[in-house]
Amino acid sequence: MSEQRSIACITGASGGQGRVAVEKFVAEGYRVVAADLLPEAVERVRDEIVARVPDADILAIGLDQSSEESLREAAARVREWGGRIDALLLFAGVVQRDGVPLLSMSTEEWDRVQGVNLRGVFLACRELAPLIPAHAGGSIVTISSWWGQSGHPFYSAYCSSKAGVISLTQCLAAELADAGIRVNSVAPGNIDTEMHRAALRGEAEERGISFDEMRDIEWGKIPLKTAGPPSSIVEAAFWLASERSAYVTGATIDVNGGVKMR
Ligand SMILES: NC(=O)c1ccc[n+]([C@@H]2O[C@H](COP(=O)([O-])OP(=O)(O)OC[C@H]3O[C@@H](n4cnc5c(N)ncnc54)[C@H](O)[C@@H]3O)[C@@H](O)[C@H]2O)c1
Repeated sequence: MSEQRSIACITGASGGQGRVAVEKFVAEGYRVVAADLLPEAVERVRDEIVARVPDADILAIGLDQSSEESLREAAARVREWGGRIDALLLFAGVVQRDGVPLLSMSTEEWDRVQGVNLRGVFLACRELAPLIPAHAGGSIVTISSWWGQSGHPFYSAYCSSKAGVISLTQCLAAELADAGIRVNSVAPGNIDTEMHRAALRGEAEERGISFDEMRDIEWGKIPLKTAGPPSSIVEAAFWLASERSAYVTGATIDVNGGVKMR
């Protein structure tokens, strides 16, 4: 029975969006590989979900998306556990530690951000996409950012890494179309996860104002006046992974509360 269920492989699975994605794919009947840099955190995510959904079938694994070796090991474990991947969702990502002018950016920080966000997406696709069978409805979903659709001062490593993800998504979509495997991206705006809250905290500190004041300033710039819930991204990612989007490939879907219109 379990062999007939589709398999989703989700990186960044203990993060704000990734854990909601694990819940969603489990609820939709998928077996799920939940992978994250933090193995204990992703095991907690698995245990919490299994406590609520006893027939959930989740393989929790530690995985460093920036490491070729780690991805190869993960691919071997997934192959052994499930034999295939139907939906590959790459949520793992990091933001810069601070806003820094490009002319003062350290090579180490540049490489760290690019290593997870862009090189890591390349490596994850190269090592894990071969587990997606041809002509069986397979789908890859990357997570880019509205900051990859335009440049923003002091965040050149992050913005350029996410711009690269959008381009990589299009290149891979063109390459895998003949195998019937679709590749798309979701470009989040401000999403209410620890990543967003940490950025608000940092900016508030720099300006000497409270977190609430900083949040009100940033959210006030969004036409829909709030940061999105993680589920807003996960719903778009699920749609892109499902056959309902069967004619969509190479696309980047905006889910951002209209922030690009500000
Ligand atoms: N939250 C936002 O406002 C926002 C906006 C635009 C884009 N995004 C993107 O959405 C994605 C999900 O972010 P989130 O909001 O859930 O943030 P988050 O910080 O809550 O989650 C990120 C997850 O990625 C994991 N991770 C980090 N480095 C890793 C590595 N080397 N290997 C494997 N896992 C690693 C972290 O452990 C964490 O669980 C990221 O790619 C992020 O860049 C977020």
